[in-house]
Amino acid sequence: MDYRFARRMEQVRPSTIRQILKATEQPEMISFAGGLPAPECFPVAEIAQSAQRVLAEAGAAALQYAVTEGYGPLREKLVAEMAVRGVSCATENLLVTTGSQQALDLIGKVFLDPGDCILMEAPTYLAAIQAFQAYEARFATAPTDELGLDADRLEEVLRRERPKLLYTIPNFQNPTGVTQSSERRRRIYELAARYGVLIVEDDPYGKLRYAGVDLPPIKSYDREGIVLYVSTVSKTVTPGLRTGWIVAAESALQKLVVAKQSADLHTSNLDQRIVDRYLADFDNAAHVQRIRDAYGARYTRMNECLTKFMPEGFRWTHPDGGMFLWVTCPEGVDTQEMMPAAVERKVLFVPGRDFFPDGSGHRHLRLNFSNASEAAIRTGIERLAEVAALYAGVKV
Ligand SMILES: Cc1ncc(COP(=O)(O)O)c(C=O)c1O
Repeated sequence: MDYRFARRMEQVRPSTIRQILKATEQPEMISFAGGLPAPECFPVAEIAQSAQRVLAEAGAAALQYAVTEGYGPLREKLVAEMAVRGVSCATENLLVTTGSQQALDLIGKVFLDPGDCILMEAPTYLAAIQAFQAYEARFATAPTDELGLDADRLEEVLRRERPKLLYTIPNFQNPTGVTQSSERRRRIYELAARYGVLIVEDDPYGKLRYAGVDLPPIKSYDREGIVLYVSTVSKTVTPGLRTGWIVAAESALQKLVVAKQSADLHTSNLDQRIVDRYLADFDNAAHVQRIRDAYGARYTRMNECLTKFMPEGFRWTHPDGGMFLWVTCPEGVDTQEMMPAAVERKVLFVPGRDFFPDGSGHRHLRLNFSNASEAAIRTGIERLAEVAALYAGVKV
């Protein structure tokens, strides 16, 4: 059948990550490719107990259809969590979504007409690029440096491109691991307010800080209702429960609710209640601290091994949290071309190209440090260094 797909799908590029993930199934493969949390850090027994309690106590109500906005007690807990993060909001400002991925899709649906400009960091989260591509957005990139979005050069781009949305990941950015300073956050907010641009602040990793101190979200500066703040329990509890949220001014939130109605009616009632029960009955702050310790140790190991094994000319970022670091290779290296040799040596990474809306970024690659054990990190980085040496034409 020669399908006549909608025009909006023409722009959407398939993610090579999904293709790479197929290779992870090969025996003895060490993968730094996926964005997977450490499965040993999932609170399996606690979630089992929470699920049992939900079904024992709420019974059929937990299996019934529910309101689009989200399960009331969970919304209240997320509002309290927002206060911990420095954002004061009410339940009317918070919509529970099916992962934060759905929040990005709903924002695209509500705010982007074909041809509208969205400004993004380059590189950025590739499934955000995909989500916004489906709404036929035009992409512009904002200059970044080792501290993330460069506020000094942002104004010129805002003036030139007149974007409708600015999408940014201020904490431990995916893919670079870089964090914006609070001074930059404030300036980005002020510039966006001056140019009438909505900020989409995507914050899945902020709680995963293993060094330094927490910084206020851009949303905490928001006096005019221009920031749409997006977060998730995927990295702090588990991604399998597909529970995320958006915080926005009430009028924007109401539109997002309407958009969600036609997307999925509501996020799984059962999943939301399990998350709610889990947050009520267990000490999630202590649990998150264990995740931070584990990821901090894994990052340290990866950094040590990169330092020890990688050939000269390779640089990488030094994140204070999150799950990724970003490698820059010497001029002339194309990380996409390194993939077959990497697969053969049984190590996986994601080539940089996918993270740039314009397909540039061939000199870069992303490494995930949260999913592999410290022992696997050592072996995997040794293998990667061999592949890197082959392509950079140098000896390790
Ligand atoms: C920057 C960013 N935003 C959003 C998401 C989506 O997460 P979820 O839908 O599991 O909440 C991810 C997942 O890796 C991410 O890295």
